[in-house]
Amino acid sequence: MEKRVLIFALALSLALLQNPVQSSTDVPCNFPAIFNFGDSNSDTGGLSAAFGQASSPHGESFFHGPAGRYCDGRLVIDFIAESLGLPYLSAYLDAVGSNFSNGANFATAGSTIRPQNTTLHQSGFSPFSLNVQWYQFHDFHNRSQIFRTKGIFGELLPKAEYFSRALYTFDIGQNDLTAGYFLNMSTNEVEAYVPDTLDQFTAVVKNIYGEGGRSFWIHNTGPVGCLPYVLGRLKIKPAQLDKAGCATPFNDVAQYFNRKLKQAVIQLRKDLPLAAITYVDVYSLKYSLFTQPTKHGFAESLRACCGHGGKYNFNIHVGCGGKKTVHGKQLLVGKPCQDPSVWVNWDGVHYTQAANKWIFDQIVGGSFSDPPLPLKFACHTHHPPH
Ligand SMILES: *[C@@H]1O[C@H](CO)[C@@H](O)[C@H](O)[C@H]1NC(C)=O
Ligand SMILES: *[C@@H]1O[C@H](CO)[C@@H](O)[C@H](O)[C@H]1NC(C)=O
Ligand SMILES: *[C@@H]1O[C@H](CO)[C@@H](O)[C@H](O)[C@H]1NC(C)=O
Ligand SMILES: *[C@@H]1O[C@H](CO)[C@@H](O)[C@H](O)[C@H]1NC(C)=O
Repeated sequence: MEKRVLIFALALSLALLQNPVQSSTDVPCNFPAIFNFGDSNSDTGGLSAAFGQASSPHGESFFHGPAGRYCDGRLVIDFIAESLGLPYLSAYLDAVGSNFSNGANFATAGSTIRPQNTTLHQSGFSPFSLNVQWYQFHDFHNRSQIFRTKGIFGELLPKAEYFSRALYTFDIGQNDLTAGYFLNMSTNEVEAYVPDTLDQFTAVVKNIYGEGGRSFWIHNTGPVGCLPYVLGRLKIKPAQLDKAGCATPFNDVAQYFNRKLKQAVIQLRKDLPLAAITYVDVYSLKYSLFTQPTKHGFAESLRACCGHGGKYNFNIHVGCGGKKTVHGKQLLVGKPCQDPSVWVNWDGVHYTQAANKWIFDQIVGGSFSDPPLPLKFACHTHHPPH
């Protein structure tokens, strides 16, 4: 290589090292790690590690057995990791077989942004709310670096510089909305606490930025009014169902949350000038799975593939993988449908692997993102000046 070219290449790589956020948008980010925060939409084993495994048939379509996910296979976060050339994320809480070299997953099923004042057994909401996930991340950041230098741990923990170069992903908020409804709150009452919820969300993003995080990939919340656990549990009048069969009031609240989330992201961009923050509209995609399932290759959308009973093949008391003793024999109550690859809903609460794959395929190129950059360019601050 000619000397001048070499010096230029050296300067360029130094610049890349020092400033992971580029103003030009044609250099892929090469994220070396992902740190994920969220609920069951992206839990790869957290709740299972803390409270017992999500039982079979969860995981059957891909992992051929339980794999800590509330799904028959992979989640959107798994497809994100795959496409960035990274291994599936280990759950921070999982002490067995975890490898955090390329990131960690702090999400747990049932997590909310705001801490709930009830136990998991009382309400079904996880004690690992977003603020707790932040404490865990903070501790992980610090302690991983203390331990990295000691023997075998070097092979299991991320390098120091990965924390600033990583992609920080978020998919959380859905449970904050249902939490109020499950306490019999009105739509007005639920909407009234959305600003506080988003303030708490924003605080966590700022804390991560304060520890060097620069690239943020934030999913908005999905159409919760299309899911059997909401449709079946809450009293919905026929007039409140839309043409897809989804409950309009709950989807309206989800969209309200999303509008406020988008405003919060715009404010975060002003407050965190070195951050690249991508807002990803998974709501529209998920909703179109209910309005036009056949167009996207699905045969069933509203009913749960794995479940039992009622209009939506969903029973709140005995879910997918649940067991019942009949005449001394244990029966699997929630038997999965024949072909989960043509069903949208897996267990009444979560999407199938096929739906997750379809959603991922739509978002990876940036068409549903603001700014509209592909996933692998999500370290770029390409948004209009304010
Ligand atoms: C939990 O209780 C605290 C203290 O009373 C309150 O500030 C907070 O809003 C409550 N959280 C929820 C989700 O209701
Ligand atoms: C970890 O935290 C301790 C106590 O706050 C601090 O003294 C130490 O420098 C931190 N270590 C690293 C590697 O961040
Ligand atoms: C953990 O994963 C990293 C990166 O994939 C790999 O290099 C390392 O060998 C793994 N560690 C162990 C102990 O398997
Ligand atoms: C909500 O209302 C239902 C029906 O009126 C009632 O059975 C349930 O106990 C109420 N839940 C709470 C948390 O107040």
